[in-house]
Amino acid sequence: MTLSDQFIVHEHDVLVIGAGGAGLRAAIEASGAGVKVGVICKSLLGKAHTVMAEGGMAAAMGNVDDRDNWEVHFADTMRGGQYLNNPIMVEHHAKEAPDRVRELEAWGAVFDRTKEGKILQRNFGGHRYPRLAHVGDRTGLELIRTLQDHGIHQGMEVFMEMTVVSLLKTSGRISGVLGYDRERGRMHLWKAKAVVLATGGIGKAFRITSNSWEGTGDGHSLAYHAGAELMDMEFVQFHPTGMVWPPSVRGILVTEGVRGEGGVLRNSEGKRFMFDDIPDAYKKQVATTEEEGWRYVCGDKNANRPPELLTRDHVARCINREIKAGRGSPHGGVFLDIGWIKEKIPNAAEHIKRKLPSMYHQFKQLAGVDITTERMEVGPTTHYVMGGVAVDGDTQESCVPGLFAAGEVTAGLNGANRLGGNSLSDLVVFGKLAGEHAAKYAKANRAVEVDSAQVEAKTREVEECFGRSAVENPYAIQYALQDTMQDLVGIVRTQKEMELALSKIGELKTRYANVGVSGHREYNPGWHTAIDLNCLLTVSESITRCALERKESRGAQFRDDYPEKIAEYATFNLVAKKSTDGSMEIRRRPIVPMRADLKAVIERQS
Ligand code: FUM
Repeated sequence: MTLSDQFIVHEHDVLVIGAGGAGLRAAIEASGAGVKVGVICKSLLGKAHTVMAEGGMAAAMGNVDDRDNWEVHFADTMRGGQYLNNPIMVEHHAKEAPDRVRELEAWGAVFDRTKEGKILQRNFGGHRYPRLAHVGDRTGLELIRTLQDHGIHQGMEVFMEMTVVSLLKTSGRISGVLGYDRERGRMHLWKAKAVVLATGGIGKAFRITSNSWEGTGDGHSLAYHAGAELMDMEFVQFHPTGMVWPPSVRGILVTEGVRGEGGVLRNSEGKRFMFDDIPDAYKKQVATTEEEGWRYVCGDKNANRPPELLTRDHVARCINREIKAGRGSPHGGVFLDIGWIKEKIPNAAEHIKRKLPSMYHQFKQLAGVDITTERMEVGPTTHYVMGGVAVDGDTQESCVPGLFAAGEVTAGLNGANRLGGNSLSDLVVFGKLAGEHAAKYAKANRAVEVDSAQVEAKTREVEECFGRSAVENPYAIQYALQDTMQDLVGIVRTQKEMELALSKIGELKTRYANVGVSGHREYNPGWHTAIDLNCLLTVSESITRCALERKESRGAQFRDDYPEKIAEYATFNLVAKKSTDGSMEIRRRPIVPMRADLKAVIERQS
C-alpha cells in the first residue's frame, strides 16, 4: 500500500501550524513570496489565544508621548526580561513593531484614536511611555480579524480542527507533518519543504490559566521530539489579574488595560499594597504618591507610573504575598478597583464602559459585578510562557533545518519576563520574518521524500490507546498534572517541591504509557486529551527541570530557597534537549552577546 492509500495527503512548500497572530502573519508573508502555503489549526480559524492579549500591542510610535522611540522600547524590553533576552530579536521587535501596526491599519484594523486622529496608545506595565496601540480591550480580537480577512485572500489553504502528532524528518531535514482531523479521526499527511510552528503556549499545564483548551504546548513538544532545543522554559508568566470568582470562570483574564486606565489594587484592609515594595531597577520610575500615579495615568509627562504598572512578575508576587498573609478578598484574590476614578473625572461610568467594554460585560455577565461601581476580585493566572523553541534571531529558523517558529512557541524576545503588550507585536514582527525565511528556504531547497516507516510507526503510536485493557483515564492524568504544576511549580518555587513535582511527572508518564480510550476515532474528546497529554507532560518536565537548574530568582522565576539574583546566572540561558537515549538533558547556553551599539542604547536609556 502507498501512503496515499492510508492517509489523506497534501503537499505544500510552506506549512504553518497554528492560526493565531503569528501563524496568520507568517502565512501571509510566505504566500506573498509566491510559494504554496497551508495553514493547520487545532480549532476554528479565528479562535486563538491571541484574543487574550486584550489591552494592546506595544509599538514605539510616540503618538501620545513623543519621547518614545525604538531605543526606549528596546531598553524597557531588555530590562523587563532581566537581560536574558536575545538582543537581536529585541532590536527587530522594537524597530519593526510600528510598521507592523501601520500595516494592520492599512489592512483594515480599526484602532482607537487620539484627538488629532493618530492611533491612540495606552500605558502598560514596564513600558516607560504610553505605547500600546489598542482597540478598547479587544485588541487581540481585532488583530486576528484583520489578519484573517487579509489572509484568506492570499491563496493559503486552511485546515481547521486538526491535531498534529508529529513533525517528519528525512536526512535530518523537515519533510512533512502527520496529524488527524478532530471530527472524523482520519489521518492526514502534509508533505512540506518548510514548516513554521506558531502554536502558542502551554497554559493548560496548570490548573488556573487564561488559556483555553488549545494551550497544551503542542508546538513546544513537537519541536522537542524532532530534535529542536527548548530554551528558557523555567520562565512562565503568571498574569497578575485573572478572575477568581465564581469558580467556573477562575483564571479568565482581566486585562492589564484596567490598570493602564487607572485601576488600583487594594487588599482587604483597603490599602494600595503595591506601594510597599518597589524593585531597585524601577525605583526612579515609580510614583511616590497616589496623586502622582494618577497624574501619570492622565498623561502628565513629569509624573512617574503608579506601582500597579510594574512588571507582571513583580505584581503577581505582591498579590500572592497579600493573599498568603491573610489580607486577600473573600474568594482568595485581592481587589482591583477602577470605579474609584469617579472621584477624579466626570462621567466615569461611561468612560470605563468605552475604554474597557469587554471587562464591563465580562464581570457583569459572569460575576454579577458592575465594575463602574464595584471592585473586582482578581488573582494571578497562568498566561504565557517566555520559553520555547530556540531560533536564529534574524531568520526564526531552529536548529532543525526547515523548521521555523514564531510567537509564543519561540524563546528569545522576552528573556525572563515579558512586558504586557509585547506579545501582539511579537506575533506580527516575527510571524513576518518566519514566513519570509521559510519561503526563502522552500525556494532554495527541493522537497525530500517522507519516510514511510516513520509515518507508520507514529500512526500506530497514536492509535495504541484504543483497546487497551488495563487502562488509565486521560482526564485523571491531566488533572493530576495540572495540580502538580499549580501547587509545586507555581509563582513561588522551592527545590523540595520541584523535586516532588519531577517525581510525580515521572509517575504520570508511567501511567500515560497505559492510557486508554473507549469508543472510536470519530468525535472522541478522550482521544484528543490523550494525545494532548503527551505534549503537556513534555513541557511540564522541561519547565520543572529548568526551574530546578536555575538556583536563583530572576524575572518570572521566584525561588523561596534562592530569593536573590545571582550574577553567574545572568550569563546563560537554559536549554532542554532530547538526548539519544530519549531522556531530557538540560544545558547552559551562553546568552547571545549584545553588540556595542545596543549596549550604548541601554546606557543612554538607564
Ligand atoms: O492584560 C492584557 O491585556 C494582556 C496582554 C498581553 O498579554 O500582552
